Amino acid sequence: MNNFIYDTPTRVYFGKDEELKVGSIIKTYDIKKVLLHFGGSSAEKSGLLGRVRASLKDAGLSFVELGGVVPNPELSLVREGIALCQKEGVDFVLAVGGGSVMDSAKDIANGVANPDIDVWDFSLGKAAPKATLKKGCILTLAAAGSEMSNSCVISDSTQHEKRGYGSPFNRMNFAIENPELTYTVPSYQTACGAVDIAMHTIERYFMPGDDTYLTDAVAEAVVKSVMKAGADAYAHPDDYTARANMMWASSLAHNGLTDCGRVFQLTVHQFEHEVSALYPKVAHGAGLAALWCSWARFVYKANVPRWLQFAHNIWNLDINFEHPDETILKAIDMQEAYYKSLSMPVSLSELGVKADDLETLADKCSRGKTRTLDGYMKLGYKEILAIYKMAL
Ligand code: NZQ
Ligand code: ZN
Repeated sequence: MNNFIYDTPTRVYFGKDEELKVGSIIKTYDIKKVLLHFGGSSAEKSGLLGRVRASLKDAGLSFVELGGVVPNPELSLVREGIALCQKEGVDFVLAVGGGSVMDSAKDIANGVANPDIDVWDFSLGKAAPKATLKKGCILTLAAAGSEMSNSCVISDSTQHEKRGYGSPFNRMNFAIENPELTYTVPSYQTACGAVDIAMHTIERYFMPGDDTYLTDAVAEAVVKSVMKAGADAYAHPDDYTARANMMWASSLAHNGLTDCGRVFQLTVHQFEHEVSALYPKVAHGAGLAALWCSWARFVYKANVPRWLQFAHNIWNLDINFEHPDETILKAIDMQEAYYKSLSMPVSLSELGVKADDLETLADKCSRGKTRTLDGYMKLGYKEILAIYKMAL
């Protein structure tokens, strides 16, 4: 097992009605003004924003609002948010929404606290935040795991760029998780969430690491739980048990717990980010579903025992020791069938990706043929392009 630091400082308030406490929770941080940050229309329509405003007012907190975060959140709105916070003297950012709102909030908090650095330089890896504002979230969608993760993913659609960066300053101070708030999530988005959550941990599971049988067991439980909960929530949107297990899986799958002792990188995510950068209408989870099986079929030979463990422990398959490939390919087929059962795409063409764009995607994913994605198999431009082609 590799050395590791496990540091997940986010305080979680989980369960029914917990969002009603938001004002009194923020009050404990001794702050002056809150930015209430949200997305399109869902939180207004459900009445959640009304309850949040009332709670902030009851706690005597002053606040300003900035809505309009789009899926695959935009740098332009982050810049607007930074300017607003500076003008208004905001020192706390509250995100009400899914991964896009939370990431936009994180970037705004980092931008305000580091006025001498251009915020896009964090995404480009040219600079790292040295401070941040305090921030919290009310989760309305179980998917990205941003509520407890140390990452922030921002797009600049004017340049077709989507970049994620990790930093300890990207951790939320608190996350309010009421599963009932996700009853209104449409079935497609619910399916995207189930894919994304499972993928955060499956990706970690297939990065190099030895003798991490405790981490493996936690990872396997998270993946199996979210696949069950995702299917149940997809079939019955107001199934509390399903929504609750899915929400908690969202947080655990991406907060660092499931890579303790292992190398950490999210490889298929890198492939996907290029797809949704070039095709901003593509939902992140759908992009992952379209890519994962092709990636899996391409790389599995680099670590057959690990893939057999996946086949046995996740898909309950008996191992064919004479023909291990058969067992592994069957497990990948079962994963694919699961995606199909949730009406998720299993190819890029289903998402409208054009063959002519595959070289551009591979070029961007390999950062102009300069970077490799290092797992059990090293993937450079040539291999990345081959996987995109398989996935078409
Ligand atoms: O904008 P509104 O009207 O709120 O609608 C949203 C949006 O259209 C809707 N929605 C959210 N909660 C809802 C709801 N609709 C009905 N009822 C509710 N309760 O769902 C749509 C998608 O929202 P979005 O926030 O974009 O989805 P998600 O949570 O999947 O976040 C995706 C973003 O997170 C990034 C992705 O790349 C993508 O940009 N990621 C962030 C990560 C992180 N920071 O750790 C890790 C992930 O791997 C991911 O890359
Ligand atoms: Zn993801």
